[in-house]
Amino acid sequence: MTHSAFIKDLDNRRALARKHMMNGAVTEDFTQDKDKIIDLLNEALATELICVLRYKAHYYTAHGRGAKVASAEFWEHAQEEQEHADQLAERIAQLGGVPEMNPDELSKRAHSDYHSGGDTLEMLQEDLVAERIAISSYREMINYVGEKDPTTRRILEELLAKEEEHADDLVDLIEHIDGER
Ligand SMILES: [Fe+2]
Ligand SMILES: [Fe+2]
Repeated sequence: MTHSAFIKDLDNRRALARKHMMNGAVTEDFTQDKDKIIDLLNEALATELICVLRYKAHYYTAHGRGAKVASAEFWEHAQEEQEHADQLAERIAQLGGVPEMNPDELSKRAHSDYHSGGDTLEMLQEDLVAERIAISSYREMINYVGEKDPTTRRILEELLAKEEEHADDLVDLIEHIDGER
């Protein structure tokens, strides 16, 4: 018998850790909520991939007033959304799920919309709306994950902080371009 002042049922945990060792990061105490967390991560992944495409579309086609300064921001955001997508895909795989990247399904699962065309100001406004949607869904996801999965929660919290920065950058740019009129 092994005793611990903190961990309940340590002998049983030790036995299960060995028995199901090929489940890797996923231990017995976590199976209940795992599938729902994978689904939630796949929605976030779809959202990030749509955001990559929207920012790239904006980067390559921005024109008119403010285009130069906005393009630099579009490029940077596209790179960061891609990093977010990779973090989410990695976590999904770690949990034994399949990161869904089928292009036919992406826009159905994503929370925010793809957009292209219009002038630079319109692009910035559409990006700001998308960031605000992402912020509000990440906050909701963090609430759902709660104490169930601290690693997933930490990833979602990091992404939320980054989307808040993105939204803030976009507001600054919109004010800057509007101020030049
Ligand atoms: Fe993101
Ligand atoms: Fe963002």
